[in-house]
Amino acid sequence: MDVKILLGPVERFRAAIPYRIETEAGPVVLVRIGDDFYALEDRCSHQDVPLSEGEVYADAREIECYKHGSTFSLETGEALILPATRPVRTFTVTVEDGQVALALDQGR
Ligand code: FES
Repeated sequence: MDVKILLGPVERFRAAIPYRIETEAGPVVLVRIGDDFYALEDRCSHQDVPLSEGEVYADAREIECYKHGSTFSLETGEALILPATRPVRTFTVTVEDGQVALALDQGR
């Protein structure tokens, strides 16, 4: 079943700030860059720490784990720098009528 969570108006989200969202599929980190929104599982694949406490690199479209510095692609969830080697799950985010929606069952 396609579960969508409405997160509110686009203006609520500032650029390059990681927002942690608790969902029934677990915590998700939402990032806005320009008009684009990205959502990843909010848990580093190296150890169990939240990616939402790390830094976003807007130009590269990456988020960095604060603990050991691995970066993950916001677009694919791929781990780009060691020590993390495994990707994190991604989720589809849509904007409809100015409202941001997170789809839980349509990870890429
Ligand atoms: S816990 Fe994230 S890189 Fe180690």
